[in-house]
Amino acid sequence: PMVEFLNFEVLEDHGWALEDEDLFAKAADANLQSTDFGRFYVDPNDTLLEAAEKNGFAWPFACRGGACTNCAVAVVEGEMPSPASHILPPDLTEKGIRLSCIAAPVSDDAKIVYNLKHLPEVSELLL
Ligand code: FES
Repeated sequence: PMVEFLNFEVLEDHGWALEDEDLFAKAADANLQSTDFGRFYVDPNDTLLEAAEKNGFAWPFACRGGACTNCAVAVVEGEMPSPASHILPPDLTEKGIRLSCIAAPVSDDAKIVYNLKHLPEVSELLL
């Protein structure tokens, strides 16, 4: 799968929201740094976090085991199934929030906002 990614901190800086229809189009026009916006390929056996690291990106993590939410991302477009065993409450999973250390996209293309640990609903879960 090919993942297009955007740093959640960019949303905060620009006053954008996860729900914005044209979020990734706005990002493409905003002349962002390559660490904040770009794309990479995810090998089928890798988690999203591993794929980001293989491509040279330092995305947040701590436990690497689905227990802390430091690695949370929001799936804006695409399919990224969530394993059953993790710390995220169902209301966040329903909003498309996933843990990048234990999940990966399965659709050919996905749009992912990383650094979701700065989202208030996620940061209150941080361990
Ligand atoms: Fe802790 Fe992913 S790094 S849940």
